[in-house]
Amino acid sequence: MTIQKRILQTAGVLICAAAAFSQRPAPSLGSPLPGLSTEDVALFEAGKADFLDVEGPADGLGPAFNGRSCAECHSVPAIGGIGNQSVTRAGRTVQGRFVEPDGGSLIHKFSLPDHKCQPLVPANATVVATRIPLAIFGDGLIEAIPDATIQAQADNAGRNPDGIRGRVALVRDPASGLQRVGRFGWKAQQATLLGFAGDAYLFEMGITNDLFPNEAASGIPANVLAACDSVADPEDKPDSVTGRRGIDNFANFMRLLAPPARLPGNDAAARGEDLFQAIGCAACHRPVMQTGPSATPALDRRPVALYSDLLLHDIGTGDGIAQGAAGPNEMRTPPLWGLRLRKQLLHDGSALNVEQAIAQHGGAAGRVRERFRGLSPRDHQSLLEFLGTL
Ligand code: HEC
Ligand code: HEC
Repeated sequence: MTIQKRILQTAGVLICAAAAFSQRPAPSLGSPLPGLSTEDVALFEAGKADFLDVEGPADGLGPAFNGRSCAECHSVPAIGGIGNQSVTRAGRTVQGRFVEPDGGSLIHKFSLPDHKCQPLVPANATVVATRIPLAIFGDGLIEAIPDATIQAQADNAGRNPDGIRGRVALVRDPASGLQRVGRFGWKAQQATLLGFAGDAYLFEMGITNDLFPNEAASGIPANVLAACDSVADPEDKPDSVTGRRGIDNFANFMRLLAPPARLPGNDAAARGEDLFQAIGCAACHRPVMQTGPSATPALDRRPVALYSDLLLHDIGTGDGIAQGAAGPNEMRTPPLWGLRLRKQLLHDGSALNVEQAIAQHGGAAGRVRERFRGLSPRDHQSLLEFLGTL
C-alpha cells in the first residue's frame, strides 16, 4: 500500500490527541491533574512531600540501595521526571534462558557503611544491562486504562500489514494479588502504581513494605542481610495520624500527576503525525487510549494521548533480562508523550536523539524503520517536527 493511500485510510480514525487536551490551559510539568477536588490536591501534596523525602538508615534505608529518595531519580526537568542515574541488572544466560542470581538481578550501587551487604555483578554473569529512569507524568491516566483495552490491541494484531504482534504482559499485581495487565517499567513489569511504589521502595531504596516485606540484595544470603539492617520489617509503617503508608503516598502523588502537555504544532508537524500513522510507527506507538470509569473525575473516561500500546515487542533491542512476563528480548513500547523532555532514549539511554532511537528499531519494527529511511527529506523533517511536539 502506498503511503498516500494509508494516510487516506487512517485519516478517518485519526484522533487529534492535542485537541483532546486543549479544553483548558495545560498544567505545568510536575503539577496535579486539572480539576481535582481539594481533598485530592491535599493527597497529591502529601504524596509529593514523601516522594521528595530523603530517607536514612533509621527509616530502614538499605542495606543495599540505589537512591535515598524517589525524587533523586525522578525530578528532571520537574518532579516526576527522570534523572541522570541508571540502574544495573545482571544474570546468566543458560541454554537460551535467563537465570537471575539469588536475591534478584538488580545490582545495587550503594550499601550501608560497613558494606557487608553490597551486591556485585556476579563473576559468572553473561548479561549486564543498564536501565535509565522513566518519567511518571500522567501515569495515573495510564493506570486507569482497562486491561481489556490493552488486551484488545494485542488481539487485533492479526490485522497489522507488517505482521506486528504485541504481547500483553500478564503479571501478578502485588497490591491486589490479582493477575493484571502490566504496563509500567521498561518490561511492563508492574500493573499498578501502588505495586510499582512497593517494588521501588524495596528495590531502589531498600525499604521493606507490606507488598515487599523481605530485604533483598543480589547474591547476599538472608542471614547476612539480617545482620546488615536492624530496623524491623516492614520498615514502611502507616503514619499515626493519616494511617497512610509511604507507598500509599507515592501512589497518590503519581496517580494525580498531570501528563506532559503537548506543544502546539505547525503544518509540518501535522503532516508528520499523518506520516507516523502511515509508515506504521503507530502500530506500536498507539496515539491514544481511553481510561475506564473512575471515581476521580480527572481520570474518568479520559483520552490518554500516550503514543504506546503498552505491549511487549521484540525490536532487537532487548537487554537480555527476563522480568515479569517479558522475555530477554522483549521490551514494552515506551509512551512517547514527554519525548521532548528526554535527552537519552531507549531503555539503556544508548540513543541520544530520536533518529538514533529509530535507527535501533529492528526485529518487528524493521519494515517500519525501512519506510522511515525511505522518506523524502521533507517528510523526514515533518516526522521529526511532529515528534518534537510530544
Ligand atoms: C536510583 C534511581 C531510582 C530511584 C531512587 C527510584 N526510581 Fe523509579 N525508576 C528508576 C528506573 C531506572 C526506572 C526504570 C526501571 C525499569 O523499568 O527497569 C524507574 C521507573 C519507575 C516507574 C515506572 C514509570 C512508568 O511509567 O513506567 C515508577 C512508577 C517509579 N519508577 C516510581 C518510583 C518511586 C515511587 C520511587 C521511590 C519509592 C522510585 N521510583 C525511586 C529509577 C529510580
Ligand atoms: C514493533 C513496535 C514498534 C514500532 C513499529 C516502532 N516502535 Fe518505537 N519503540 C518500540 C519499543 C519496544 C521501544 C523501546 C525499545 C528499548 O528501549 O529497547 C521503542 C522506542 C522508541 C523511542 C524511544 C523512546 C524513549 O522514551 O526512549 C522512540 C523515539 C521511538 N520508539 C519512535 C518510533 C518511531 C518514530 C517509529 C516509526 C518510525 C517507531 N518508534 C516504531 C516499539 C516500536
